[in-house]
Amino acid sequence: MEGIRFDFNPMMAEYVGEHGIARADMEDMQASLRAAHAMVEQNRGKGMQGWMDLPYNQDGVLTAIEEAAKRVRDTFESFVVLGIGGSALGPAAVHQALRHLHYNELPREKRGGPRLYIEDNIDPERMAALLDVIDVRTTCFNVITKSGGTAETMSQYLIVLDLLKKAVGDDYRRHILITTSENKGFLIKIARQEGYETFYIPDGVGGRFSELCPVGLLAAAVTGVDVRALVAGAREMDQRCLGDDPWKNPALFEAGLMVAAMRKGANISVMLPYADSLKLMSDWYAQLWAESLGKNLTLDGKPCHVGQTPVKALGVTDQHSQLQLYTEGPFDKVITFLKVDAFRAETPIPHGCEDVPTIAFLGGKSHNQLIEAERQGTEYALYRAGRMCQIISLPAVNETTVGQLLYFFELVTAYAGALLNIDAFNQPGVEESKLAAYAVMGYDSEKHAAKREEMKNRPARHPDYMF
Ligand code: PA5
Repeated sequence: MEGIRFDFNPMMAEYVGEHGIARADMEDMQASLRAAHAMVEQNRGKGMQGWMDLPYNQDGVLTAIEEAAKRVRDTFESFVVLGIGGSALGPAAVHQALRHLHYNELPREKRGGPRLYIEDNIDPERMAALLDVIDVRTTCFNVITKSGGTAETMSQYLIVLDLLKKAVGDDYRRHILITTSENKGFLIKIARQEGYETFYIPDGVGGRFSELCPVGLLAAAVTGVDVRALVAGAREMDQRCLGDDPWKNPALFEAGLMVAAMRKGANISVMLPYADSLKLMSDWYAQLWAESLGKNLTLDGKPCHVGQTPVKALGVTDQHSQLQLYTEGPFDKVITFLKVDAFRAETPIPHGCEDVPTIAFLGGKSHNQLIEAERQGTEYALYRAGRMCQIISLPAVNETTVGQLLYFFELVTAYAGALLNIDAFNQPGVEESKLAAYAVMGYDSEKHAAKREEMKNRPARHPDYMF
C-alpha cells in the first residue's frame, strides 16, 4: 500500500520567496533536530510517551476490542461516546474519515453497526436532543475519561445511569462500557464496584495522544472500522520516521519547518483538508497542536510563551470564507493542505446550460476534478501571494493512511515540543478554568472555597462598558 506523501516545497524560500524558510535555516537546525529526535527516542514508551508503544503492543487489546465491538454491533441500535477533549476528538475524526459521511442516516443493513453519537459537550440542549433520538433501552454508552473524574463526562454518566436504571432496571450494567486509567481516578473504582466491562488507557498515553488505544479503537471497531489496519498504518509511519536525519524523516523535517516558521512570526497553523472526510482531523489536530505546544515555561523553568494557534478550515468551503485573509492578510500563517488522490465516490457533472460558457465548461467533468482544480487554484494563489504552505497527500482515505496521518502529527508534535524545549505532554493552563468552574458549582473543599473568595476580588464591571 502506498503511503502518504509530503511536499514541503511551498514552505521553502527557494520556492515561495522571502517569507519562506531558507534552506540554510533548515541546515542550521540539523543539530537541534537530531537532538530533538534523540530526546523523543530516549523517552519512547516512558513517562508520557507511552503512545509511541501503541503501534506495537496492542495485540491482546485489539482482540478484546473486536469481541466487545461484535457484542455491541449484535445487540444495540445506538452507541454513544461520553467524553471530551482527547477522549472525543480522535473518535470523531476517525469516524468521519472512515465511515459514510451520513452514517447515522443509513439504514441498519448498510451501516452494519449501531448509530454513533459522540457527545463532547454539556450543552443542555444537546443532551435533550440526543435523548430525543435514541432509546436508552437499545443504547450502549462508552464512558471515556482518562482521569476518571472529568466533570463534563461524569455528569453525563450520572444522567445516563439514572435514565438506564429507570428504563432497564438491573440490566443497566450491560449498557455501559468504561474506558479509563487502570490505576488512577474514581471511575475505575466505580467500574469495579459495578462490574462494568472496562478498557484501559495506558498510563503513558495522554488524552490527545490516545486515539490509537481503546479510547478511539473501540468506537471505531463498533462502527466497522478495521482497527488493526489503523494501528498498522501508525506502525508504518513510526518505521518511516525512525531515523534522525531530518532530510529523511518527514515528521522531523516538518517539526523543524514549523518551529522555523514560528520563529519567523508564523504563529498560526491552518489545517486545510480538501475532503469532507478529513474535516474533523482539523479538530483533532487543533487540540494536539494547541494543548501540547502552548506553554509558558521551558523544561528548565524559564518563561517562554510559545505555541502556534491552530485554525480549522475546509476546502473548498473556506475558499469562500477565509482564503481572502490567507492570501492578503498578515504573513503569520502556515497552511497545510490535506489532499486526497482517489476519492471513494465519483460525481460526474452532466452537460447543460450550453449557451452559458461560464457554466457549460463544467459539463462532462466531475466534482473529483473540480475539487482538485480548486485545491490547485488555492495553492497557486497562495504561492503568488508568497505564503508558506505544505501539501500532505493521501493516496486514498482508508485505515492505513489515517493511521499514518494520526501518528505523523503525534510525532511532529513530540519533536516540536523537544525543539521548543517544553513539556508537550502536560496541560497546566487548563487547570485554573476547572478550579474556578468547580468553585462556581459549589464544590465543597477548602481549595474551592478559597477560589470562590478569590473570584470575588475581580474588578467591578464598569457600566460604561456595558450596553
Ligand atoms: O489531552 C488531554 O489530556 C485532555 O485534553 C483530555 O483529553 C481532556 O481534558 C479530557 O480528560 P479526561 O480523559 O481525563 O476526561
